Amino acid sequence: MRRTVLTALAAVVALVGSGVLGATAASPALALDNGLARTPQMGFNNWNLTHCRAQFNEAFVKGIADTLVSTGLKDAGYQYVNLDDCWAASSRDSKGNLVPDKTRFPHGIKAVADYVHSKGLKFGLYSSAGTKTCNSAGFPGGLGHEKQDAALWASWGVDYLKYDNCNNQGQDATKRYTAMRDALAATGRPILYSICEWGQNQPWTWAAPVGNSWRTTGDINDSYSKMLSIYKANIKLGKFAGPGHWNDPDMLEVGNGGMSDTEYRTHFTLWAMMSAPMLIGSDIRKASAATLTILRNSDVIALDQDAKGVQGNEISSANGLHVIRKPLADGDTAVALFNETGSTAKISTSLSAIGVSSGTHTLTDLWSKAKSTTTDTISASVPAHGTVVYRVH
Ligand code: GLA
Repeated sequence: MRRTVLTALAAVVALVGSGVLGATAASPALALDNGLARTPQMGFNNWNLTHCRAQFNEAFVKGIADTLVSTGLKDAGYQYVNLDDCWAASSRDSKGNLVPDKTRFPHGIKAVADYVHSKGLKFGLYSSAGTKTCNSAGFPGGLGHEKQDAALWASWGVDYLKYDNCNNQGQDATKRYTAMRDALAATGRPILYSICEWGQNQPWTWAAPVGNSWRTTGDINDSYSKMLSIYKANIKLGKFAGPGHWNDPDMLEVGNGGMSDTEYRTHFTLWAMMSAPMLIGSDIRKASAATLTILRNSDVIALDQDAKGVQGNEISSANGLHVIRKPLADGDTAVALFNETGSTAKISTSLSAIGVSSGTHTLTDLWSKAKSTTTDTISASVPAHGTVVYRVH
């Protein structure tokens, strides 16, 4: 059965590649059929916090897993603990297998995965669809080693692969990412497949049958300006996303210190409105109360995780005053009013503008939790760089 599905997918990829299917490639019916990421994946990834610094090691990863549980973040939906670049030693062993870095992971990767699993969490790993990974130290990449690497990861208990794009030798992206998709499927283990190709080959046009998510841009950093520019690129791609295949505007910076809490609330709200993967990238072992309040906002998380799986789109954005709408599974509609500018502004829209029938509707402000009613106008005074988000019922 699985083989039949894969054969059918391969045929679809061939048709897409040949241009026969064109724009329908993103329709949910053709999404990667591995049953995973029916809602956008949530969890933790160390990259934004540690890069390749020595603090990225076994004790750190265990501490993160413990903290996901003890802070209630696991219960809020954060499920995956993902290791980024620099987990491996600089060369393969004599049999061609990847080897964990002995200093960072003295007991190997399987021991870490076992620990993460013992906490009721899932475990993810990183590689690149190239000869080496992205870090300048140049750890071995997966290109040409897809089957061997996927089998090793499955034997370690890996549940998630982030597959990067460095050192790809100019080889065709669709072929490189499809080869790893097939290698992951061949392991028989459900492994969420996160394509990290930075939007270079417009993955939204071909990756729905290949991966569970695809990066749409270059790397985020902990600044309002970078977060904003990624938002502006990713918001336009909503029609390509859906259950099992999401646009990925990169991992969260919430809590890393480079933005104000107002800006982090905006970052978190916009990512939820865009049905983005929600991967925490800050040191939750030392998180402030404000950071935890943002990351655990179950009302905002519910927008991201809504079963309808429709990415929000902009209704208007004149003068940096953005109105974003996201239809929800229960018939409610989420509306975010985002003030990009440097001074407080009133942002207004209406029930008809967001496609909601007339009549009296309840608005719940998902940050302040205040409730109000409206028969027409939806508006708020929004601080500089801030976002007000309502659930319209
Ligand atoms: C690339 C990716 C990042 C991160 C680094 C690791 O830049 O886009 O998310 O994985 O590589 O080296």
